[in-house]
Amino acid sequence: MKLCVISLGGESSKLIAKEAENFFDSVTEIGLKNIELLLGDKGLVVKDHEGELSDYDAIYVRGSHRYILLQRALTRALYKKVYMPIRPNAFTLGHNKLLGSLELQQKGINIPTSYFVANAKQAKSLLGEINFPIIIKIPEGTQGKGVMFADSESSARSMIDALDVFKQSYIIQEYIETGEVKSEDIRVIVAGGKVVGAMKRVSHSTDVRANIHADGKGETMILDPETEKMSVKAARALGVDIAAIDILQGRKASVIEVNLSPGLKGIMKYTGKNIAREVAKALYDKAVEFKKKKELGGNKKVVSDENGFDEQYIESHIDKGSLCLPKFITKGVGFVNGDDLVVKLKKGEMRITKHNIRKEEED
Ligand SMILES: Nc1ncnc2c1ncn2[C@@H]1O[C@H](COP(=O)(O)OP(=O)(O)O)[C@@H](O)[C@H]1O
Ligand SMILES: [Mg+2]
Repeated sequence: MKLCVISLGGESSKLIAKEAENFFDSVTEIGLKNIELLLGDKGLVVKDHEGELSDYDAIYVRGSHRYILLQRALTRALYKKVYMPIRPNAFTLGHNKLLGSLELQQKGINIPTSYFVANAKQAKSLLGEINFPIIIKIPEGTQGKGVMFADSESSARSMIDALDVFKQSYIIQEYIETGEVKSEDIRVIVAGGKVVGAMKRVSHSTDVRANIHADGKGETMILDPETEKMSVKAARALGVDIAAIDILQGRKASVIEVNLSPGLKGIMKYTGKNIAREVAKALYDKAVEFKKKKELGGNKKVVSDENGFDEQYIESHIDKGSLCLPKFITKGVGFVNGDDLVVKLKKGEMRITKHNIRKEEED
């Protein structure tokens, strides 16, 4: 099994690559800036790198919001052939707080009430209708740098004017009060569909931002099952197998952000857990699962069971409560619109059979 880590060369990417050597036969690190996408008949080109990216079993792409397009395009080109823990459109959702929050909200995950308006005039009229304090945040901000606290309408108005000068878009968000004295948030690392680490970050100043880069300090904590479930659900909602979820525990918990390239040094220090190893292991387990599914999918005849059923591995897709099955299943089973179907189900299993009424009538 071969892994490739494509990143900006940060410390956490290196840590994960190093730990991955315990699981994969080979681990290659490539600089994101060395990737060149050639949309011609030659395909993807990587400077100073021999061989094809599609020959890897897993590729983990990390990077900042500056490289969203490159990360998304690279993943779009490869994710059907190689296991990649972050789905293509997740780069756009994860690096943009407005689109990310919208996706979470649409998938039933609690977020702080947020507003997005077309211009400063509308923003100012909105200020007359909402309660203070509020948070104003830049959709692409990181490390707490794009988050502002406004305790009154007048301070919010001046912030909006300043943002307007720079033609900077912003989200207006309900302020969630956390912590007894100082602001705090919860950072949860999800890898391979489960929580592999969590810490509480507490602001050590009057700052409302609990980010480590904004003077926050980490503390160990035990995550309650509800918050654990919420974190896993948030990662899944954005289509990512590896992520850090930021949660505010106000009157009820709300997710403020899903980070795609989380730093691990801080959380490893505060929890004393080797989270880089857990992430590497999740990459390996998922890559093995992906390979198995691919082999089974490409060789349907071999897996037909004694009753002639072809076994297929697919991910469930439920839209507004309705189970949707891919086109190839409709085609394979030969159902046409209007067919009478008999559905037999029990927990964890269902069988759908075409109900041949005419034949029964003749009998
Ligand atoms: N709606 C909010 N209410 C209270 N505090 C908030 C809110 N949004 C953000 N914060 C504080 O600011 C920090 C940074 O916010 P976040 O949205 O995660 O942006 P960043 O990408 O910069 O980390 C959070 O960890 C939290 O401490
Ligand atoms: Mg954050």
